Amino acid sequence: MQTDSLDRRDFLKLSAAGAAAVAAGVAAAEPDAKPIRVGTIGCGGMGNAHLQTMLRLKAAGEPVEIAAVCDVYQPRLEAAAKLTGSRPYAKYKELLASPQIEAVSIATPDHWHARIACDALDAGKDVYCEKPMTYWKDLGQAKEIVKAVKRNGRVLQVGTQGMSDDIWELAAARIKEGALGGLLQAQASDLRNGPLGVYSPLSNDGLAKPGENLDWDTWLGPAPKRPWEPGRFFAFRSFWDYSGGVATDFFPHILTPLVRTMELGFPHRATASGGLYQWHDGREVPDIITLMIEYPEGPSVMLVGSVSNDTPIPTMIRGKNATMFFQDPGAVIEPQQATNPNGKREEITRTRGASLDEHWQDFLRCVRTREKPRSNELLGCQVMAALHMGVTAYRTGRTMEFDPVREVARPV
Ligand SMILES: NC(=O)c1ccc[n+]([C@@H]2O[C@H](COP(=O)([O-])OP(=O)(O)OC[C@H]3O[C@@H](n4cnc5c(N)ncnc54)[C@H](O)[C@@H]3O)[C@@H](O)[C@H]2O)c1
Repeated sequence: MQTDSLDRRDFLKLSAAGAAAVAAGVAAAEPDAKPIRVGTIGCGGMGNAHLQTMLRLKAAGEPVEIAAVCDVYQPRLEAAAKLTGSRPYAKYKELLASPQIEAVSIATPDHWHARIACDALDAGKDVYCEKPMTYWKDLGQAKEIVKAVKRNGRVLQVGTQGMSDDIWELAAARIKEGALGGLLQAQASDLRNGPLGVYSPLSNDGLAKPGENLDWDTWLGPAPKRPWEPGRFFAFRSFWDYSGGVATDFFPHILTPLVRTMELGFPHRATASGGLYQWHDGREVPDIITLMIEYPEGPSVMLVGSVSNDTPIPTMIRGKNATMFFQDPGAVIEPQQATNPNGKREEITRTRGASLDEHWQDFLRCVRTREKPRSNELLGCQVMAALHMGVTAYRTGRTMEFDPVREVARPV
């Protein structure tokens, strides 16, 4: 299976870490707790990761039940129904109409996230929505989700599973205590190299036949109408109509923890650079991009993402008095000699790693307790504001500025 922020090796590592954590985590639910009945909408790469995670958690004793699956591509729908023994739906609104279903997971391409999430929230379901929380072009969608969660008193978790790593909470506490002094800059990267199938417009399983086993019009949904093109279906990440490329595919995973750890809120300005320099295979999105996102009183945040070079930059937060580096087994704080000569080097060790299992358990716990999950819609909206501004800046060549009163972005 393909994951976007994680290559296959990382993904297996995460799953293994998760499996080890499951036994400890499930103890959080009451022994006789009623299973939470979940429907999964979109049963491709990530939808299957959701299904496998729920099956694993259930086997370990977590009260969760896969009640339904939904996809517009019949072979995937049939495979998911067979895997889970749950009821298949070709139309998500019919799944949402089932009163037995309490929660849904949404793993469709990005251009469908907001509409399905809002429909699900209005139907009284709690929602685990894949990242990016919404389609990059329309920041209004993120604000609609925030309103729909509030209006319906529901729980929404965004699928940035790296947020289950408790280093972010531990680091946030030290920053709040002043360990770094005023915040100046932060940086992170997610870089890959190789012919990733989910980005190649030449991808095709040779089986998909619109009108026979695929509802292409519904797949397009809110996106512009177009004749069938296998590359758009199998590599939606490479087309602006459905995705912002690596900026919205990879960056939610690296920006969400930084926004949470430094409590950044909405950005002030964003600029971008990069280009399509290597993969001239019909894709529209760049193969390398750098975003610079400035927050109102600082810091500025630099994000680098690529599918053409996989050499990372260190993840770090620079403060006036010290720098925090994120590295196994957690983080290190190194004092700045010029401003903090008596400061001491400090190591912080995580007690809980990142995994899909942990992230799902946080969601299920919040469904039971009605608390806000670690990666909730408010954080998701702040992240989408930065990414909306970053991708728009890349496409227009303009610096984008956020209006905090109207919560909209405009070119400077
Ligand atoms: N958290 C992670 O690490 C991670 C990893 C991979 C993907 N994702 C996210 O998951 C989402 C899906 O990515 P993917 O790689 O699984 O895509 P995919 O193309 O493999 O699967 C998407 C599925 O959704 C179905 N679909 C589309 N519109 C639908 C609709 N209206 N109703 C029902 N089904 C519909 C498609 O037919 C397809 O089978 C993306 O938003 C992506 O960013 C997250």
